[in-house]
Amino acid sequence: MPNKEKETTKNKVKALRGMTDILPEELNAWRYLETVTHGFFPHYGYKEIRLPLLEETRLFARSIGIDTEIVQKEMYTVEEKSSRSISLRPEATASVVRAFLEHNLYRINGVKKYYYLGPMFRRERPQAGRLRQFHQVGVELIGSGDLALLDADVIETAHNFLVELGIEKFEIQLNHLGCRVCRKVYIERLKEYFKRYFKALCPDCQRRFNTNPLRLLDCKKEGCRILIKKAPKVSDSLCGKCKHHFQEVQGFLSFLKIDFRLNPHLVRGLDYYTGIIFEIIHPELGTQNALGAGGRYDNLIEEFGGPALPATGFSFGLERIIAVLPKEKIPDLEETKITLVVLGKGNRVKALEIKQKLRKERYDIAVETDLQRSLKSILRQADKLGSKFVLILGDDEGAKESVQVKNMASGKQELVKIDRLAEYLGEKNV
Ligand code: HAM
Repeated sequence: MPNKEKETTKNKVKALRGMTDILPEELNAWRYLETVTHGFFPHYGYKEIRLPLLEETRLFARSIGIDTEIVQKEMYTVEEKSSRSISLRPEATASVVRAFLEHNLYRINGVKKYYYLGPMFRRERPQAGRLRQFHQVGVELIGSGDLALLDADVIETAHNFLVELGIEKFEIQLNHLGCRVCRKVYIERLKEYFKRYFKALCPDCQRRFNTNPLRLLDCKKEGCRILIKKAPKVSDSLCGKCKHHFQEVQGFLSFLKIDFRLNPHLVRGLDYYTGIIFEIIHPELGTQNALGAGGRYDNLIEEFGGPALPATGFSFGLERIIAVLPKEKIPDLEETKITLVVLGKGNRVKALEIKQKLRKERYDIAVETDLQRSLKSILRQADKLGSKFVLILGDDEGAKESVQVKNMASGKQELVKIDRLAEYLGEKNV
C-alpha cells in the first residue's frame, strides 16, 4: 500500500478508464432494457442462466482462440498462487458451453435455449462505444434439429428484440464461413491471394497471415482495406452442402420479411464460429457500429469433451443499444415521492410514526421527511421532482391526528386522518 497522502485534485481516485458508473438518472433506460429482456426472451423459449464473472483462462483461450486479439491482448488475467490462471470473462458463450457440460444439461433431450445478461471485460483501447467493462444480453441455442430453420429463428429473434425496443434503421449483415472442409480450402485461397501483397500488409496483418488468416478480412487499416475488397469471397469456396444451407437460411429470412445484406467479407473476432455468422450494425453508432453479433459454432461442445451438438447464438452490447434507444420508449420509473413536511420541533415523533406507518402499508411509496427547510422551498422542490403529494404536519394537524395532503397538480389541500392516509393515497391513484 502506498503511504497515506492527502488527495489532491491531481491524484484523486477515479474510476478506471473504460469502466463507467451508471448513475441513478441513467437507470431508467437500463431498467427498461432489463425488463424487456426478461419478458422477451422467455417468450421465445429461452431460460435465463447466470454465470460467474471469473473463469479459468484456458476456457477462453481454447474457445475464443489462442491467436485472437481478445485472448492475446484483452483479457484481465490473474495468476493464482496454485499457478492456475483465471480471467474475467470477455464474453459468455464459452461459459454457457462450460456450464452446459459441467451440469450434463445435454442429458435432457431437445434443443436447449439460454439467455444471459451481465458485464463483460475486455482490455481494449477505450473510445466512443468501446468500453473495458461493458454489458451484453445474449442467447445460446444448443442442440440438433433443422439447422437452417434454427439459424433463421435465431436471427429473427435478434431482429424482433430490436423491433420490440423500438429501434429502427439497423442492418443485418450475413455471411457463411463454411464447414471444416470448405473453410480449409477458402483459407488456402485467401493465403495465396494475400501472399502476393504480403509486403503491402500492415504489421498486424503480416502476423495474422500466419496465425489467423481469416482475421485479415477484418483489418480497418486503409491500405489493407483496399486489398480486402478484391480478396476471394468465402461464398465462392463453399461446398455443396454449405451453399445449400446458406441459401435455405436466406430463403427463410426473406419469407419472414427480415431484411439482410450479404457481406462476403464478414468475419468474427472469435475463432469458434462455423457456418452462418451475422452482425447487426446501426448507422448512428459511429466507428464502433455493431449493436450485436453472433453465429453458429458447431464444433465447440465436442471440442470441450461433450457430445457432437451443434449450437448458435448472438449477443448485443447494452451500452450500444441504449445509445440508439428512442427516448420516448423509456418509461419514467421514478417512484412516486411523497414529502412529509414537519412544521415545529414538537411534531418530530409524530412524523416518525407517520413515516413508519406509511412505509409499512405501502412499500411502493417513497416517503421522505423534511424538518429543515421552509414550507415554500420544499413545495418548490417537490414540484421540480414531480412529487404528486406533499403532506404537511403542523401543530393543529398533529393535535387532530391528521395531516394536510396537498395535491401538487391542483394545488388543493385536504385534511386526512393519519389512520386513513394510505387508503386515501390509494384512492388518489398513488
Ligand atoms: P462480440 O461480437 O465479441 O460477440 O460482441 C457482441 C457485442 O458486444 C458487440 O456487437 C458489441 O455490441 C458488444 N461489445 C463487444 N465489445 C465491446 C466493448 N469493448 N465495448 C462495448 N461493447 C462491446 C460475442 O461476444 C459473442 N459471444 C456473441 C455470440 C453469442 N456468438 C454466439 N453466441
